[in-house]
Amino acid sequence: MQETRRAERPRLRRMREADVRAVARIDRQGRVDPWPRRRFRECLREGLCCWVADQQGLVCAYGVMSVGGQVAHITNLAVRRGHQRCGLGRRMLEHLLGEAGRQDAETVMLEVRASNRAARGLYRSMGFIPAGIREAYYLTGRGWENAVIMVRPLAGRRFPESQGTL
Ligand SMILES: CC(C)(COP(=O)(O)OP(=O)(O)OC[C@H]1O[C@@H](n2cnc3c(N)ncnc32)[C@H](O)[C@@H]1OP(=O)(O)O)[C@@H](O)C(=O)NCCC(=O)NCCS
Repeated sequence: MQETRRAERPRLRRMREADVRAVARIDRQGRVDPWPRRRFRECLREGLCCWVADQQGLVCAYGVMSVGGQVAHITNLAVRRGHQRCGLGRRMLEHLLGEAGRQDAETVMLEVRASNRAARGLYRSMGFIPAGIREAYYLTGRGWENAVIMVRPLAGRRFPESQGTL
């Protein structure tokens, strides 16, 4: 538990091919539909915004985001189990928001499982607003689950029209 408090604070750096194995392992924690390693490699080759939190050589969190035009899309983000609830998810998210701004995005969006209380709490606390539903978007052990689309305008930018009421 809470390994982050005992050891050096993780530093954020760009993901490398050599990190993919560790990143995919984190992605597999408790998910029935994890990304195959190949998908992370494709993200790197396509130049997506891919970051990890590195604690003395141990990858303990990662985030993947694509930026197209004025919209940034966070497609994957997770924290290694023993490092959760230490602020790392928030730090990674803040970093991605900063990157999105530097790449001139006006809005950041993402999908999150409707049942994922931890992630929804994190996103809400960071200014994301529910903006719609993608039905039967995620596979679960018991069938399909809806995704909640959440969006966040970046500072000084106007919010897009499609705000929902979830
Ligand atoms: C969601 C996740 C990234 C959060 O990362 P984390 O480092 O544990 O979260 P933080 O310590 O930065 O917490 C930030 C906020 O998230 C929310 N949160 C995090 N874990 C929570 C939990 N178990 N229950 C309820 N809220 C939680 C809280 O609002 C928290 O703020 P607080 O500490 O002031 O209450 C992490 O739980 C995780 O990797 N989950 C599995 C993968 C996943 O769900 N990814 C998101 C896919 S969209």
